[in-house]
Amino acid sequence: MNHLISIEDLDRAAIERILDRAESFAEIAGREIKKVPALRGRTVVNLFYESSTRTSSSFELAAKRLSADVVSVRSTGSSVEKGESLRDTVQTLSAYEPAAIVIRSPHAGAARLLAGWTDASVVNAGDGKHEHPTQALLDVFTLRRRLGRLDGASIWIVGDVLHSRVARSNILAFQRMGAKVTVCGPPTLLPRGIEALGCAATPTLERLGEADVVYVLRMQRERMQEAFIPSLREYAERYQIGVGRLRTGQLLMHPGPVNRGVELSADAIDSPVSLIGEQVRAGVAVRMAVLYELLVGAAAPAVAA
Ligand code: NCD
Repeated sequence: MNHLISIEDLDRAAIERILDRAESFAEIAGREIKKVPALRGRTVVNLFYESSTRTSSSFELAAKRLSADVVSVRSTGSSVEKGESLRDTVQTLSAYEPAAIVIRSPHAGAARLLAGWTDASVVNAGDGKHEHPTQALLDVFTLRRRLGRLDGASIWIVGDVLHSRVARSNILAFQRMGAKVTVCGPPTLLPRGIEALGCAATPTLERLGEADVVYVLRMQRERMQEAFIPSLREYAERYQIGVGRLRTGQLLMHPGPVNRGVELSADAIDSPVSLIGEQVRAGVAVRMAVLYELLVGAAAPAVAA
């Protein structure tokens, strides 16, 4: 595997291999010196054309913990702001002969395009509304740790599915791991024909009790050019997940950043059933495993200390 653009690039065996390796990297995170020499002498470029806290910081840490040299470029403060095109920027950065380029872009398809322009391995860190495969992997990792396996689990993805690349990647990844997925949200925020991905769709929370896992999405107001909902208050009344809407035993997830008081209530975010903190922690180990898979190879032996 050269690139990670979409969850479709991965079969179940590949997902499991990456997650098993992430487990061994998570163990390294518990050591005093959190580094392995796997990528010593190789360069990883992080190219972020859209805002990011978790994804950019965890990719940076992941590459550093593998001992790579890391260059992080953000659109603000770089020549991208001066109008340099993606193609020209990549050509410039190619002078450093990167082994991998991690890209986040507001445009669906940007990562795939980039893969055609460079010899480096490309990792999609979110392309518009399309996909965010490493988020899906870290979510599967988090759930696998908690549940042992995803087979037969019922996972509800609730909220702004229409604008969410996380939803798309997670539907594919959860199903590949044997879970049943239901998406739920106002009809205006559920993409038409979403069931073609294999999931169920419903406009109400009535049957939320069936879910083992409630995965809540952020209202992506920056991607909304028109009014998709009457008001945030009304949205919150009908779809906000608070502790009162969860039954005992259900687990709660969210990719972050959370709009507190919109899609999630404060009590839910901080409740013991929330895996939000674990999701963030999983990010570094899982992204280390993805870089390792692409740059060292699937056939490589277990992680060297
Ligand atoms: C997600 C993203 O950027 O797609 N966030 C993330 O990577 N942790 C989800 C979101 O922005 O709502």
